[in-house]
Amino acid sequence: MSRTKVLLVGAAGETGGSIANGLLEQPNFEVHALVRPRSAQKPAIVALQERGVQIRKGDLKGPEESLTDVLTGIDVVISCVGPSEQQDQIPLAKAAKNAGVQRFIPCGFITVAPPGGIMWLRDEKETVYNHIKQLRLPYTIIDVGWWYQFSYPRLESGRIDYAMTSANNEIVADGNSPIALTDLRDIGRYVAKIITDDRTLNKMVLAYNEVKTQNEIYDLLEEISEEKIQRNYIPEETIYTRVLAARQSSETYPFDPIKFIPRYLAEYQLSWGLRGDNTPEYAKYLGYVTSKELYPDFTPTDFREYLETVVRGAAKGVYTDRTISKAQQRFFPRSESSDSLYTRIFPRTESSDSLYMSR
Ligand SMILES: NC(=O)c1ccc[n+]([C@@H]2O[C@H](COP(=O)([O-])OP(=O)(O)OC[C@H]3O[C@@H](n4cnc5c(N)ncnc54)[C@H](OP(=O)(O)O)[C@@H]3O)[C@@H](O)[C@H]2O)c1
Repeated sequence: MSRTKVLLVGAAGETGGSIANGLLEQPNFEVHALVRPRSAQKPAIVALQERGVQIRKGDLKGPEESLTDVLTGIDVVISCVGPSEQQDQIPLAKAAKNAGVQRFIPCGFITVAPPGGIMWLRDEKETVYNHIKQLRLPYTIIDVGWWYQFSYPRLESGRIDYAMTSANNEIVADGNSPIALTDLRDIGRYVAKIITDDRTLNKMVLAYNEVKTQNEIYDLLEEISEEKIQRNYIPEETIYTRVLAARQSSETYPFDPIKFIPRYLAEYQLSWGLRGDNTPEYAKYLGYVTSKELYPDFTPTDFREYLETVVRGAAKGVYTDRTISKAQQRFFPRSESSDSLYTRIFPRTESSDSLYMSR
C-alpha cells in the first residue's frame, strides 16, 4: 500500500517537532517538511532529514504559485506556525486547494475556547478556519488543551527551573477550574492517528491526556517534590482588569509584541482559568470529538510520571534554545533566581522575523 504523503510546516518548532516524531514512528507516512531556505541548516531540520524527512524549501510569505508547487503530490498538510503567523496560513490553504491536498490541518493545537472575542489568538486561528471552509478544503482542526510542560509552578529550591519556560507562579481565582492537559510529546502520536481517520474529516478534535485543576497540580508537585509551594491566588477582578488593560493597549495591528504578549497571556487566564473553557465537556458542547471517544486504547503519558521526571531532573524543557531581545525582557520584571526563565517565556531568536523579534 502506498504511504500517505504528509507535509509539515513548522517542523523545527515545538509542536511541529512532536508531530514529526509521531509521524516518523509509523511506517505508513512519507514525511515532508516545508522549510524556509534560511532555516534549512537548523540542527532540528538536519536531524529530521537524517531520520528520513524530505525537505521542500518554501516560505508561507512567498508567492502562492510557488507554494502550490511545493504541495504537489502531498496528501495531508499540517501547519504548526507560531501565534503571530496564523494569517500566513491563508495562502497555504489556497495553495493546498489548488494542489488537490486531501486534508488540511491548520494550526490549532491550543486550549478549547469559543470563537468571537474571548481570546485574540483563538480568533486569529478561527479566521483561517473560515477561509478553509470557504474554499471547501477538507480539514481537521486539532486542539490539545494545555501542555503539561506549561502547567506546573516553580519550586522555591529552583531545582526544576531547568525544565521551565516561565515561573508560572499564579493560580487563577480559587484554582479549582478543571483544565484539559496533554504532554507536548504525545501530540504527534495523536496526530498520526487523527489524520488518517475518516471520522475526523471536517471535524474538530480535542486530543487530551488528563484533566486537573491548578490546586491539584500544586498538590501533586508538593507531594512529589516534598517542597511546600506558596499559593499565589489572583482574584477574578485582577484577571479582568489585566485583560481589559491589555486589550486597550493592543488594538494596533499588525503586531506589537510588547502589547500583544500580555494580552494573550491574560486572555488564556480568562478562558481556562475563569471561564473554564478548556474542558472536554465544553469541547463536546462546541462540537469537538475527543481523543478519549476516538481512541480509547491510546496510552498517554501519565501526568504524575511526567512531574516525577521533572523533579528527578530528567525532563526536557521547551523553547530552551531561544532567547528574547533585551528590550522585551525589560518589560517583564525578574528576580535573580528566575532570571533564566524569563529569557524563554516568549520564545524566538533575535534573528527571527516573527513576533518575538527585537525591533
Ligand atoms: N496548547 C499549548 O499549551 C500551547 C503552547 C504553546 C504553543 N501552542 C500553539 O502551538 C502552535 C505552534 O507553536 P509552537 O510554539 O510549537 O511553534 P514554534 O516552536 O514557534 O515554531 C513555529 C514554526 O513555524 C515555522 N514558520 C513560521 N513562519 C513560517 C513561514 N512564513 N514559512 C514557513 N515556516 C514558518 C517556523 O519556522 P523556522 O524554523 O523557519 O523559524 C517554526 O518552525 C501555536 O500557534 C500556539 O498557538 C499551544
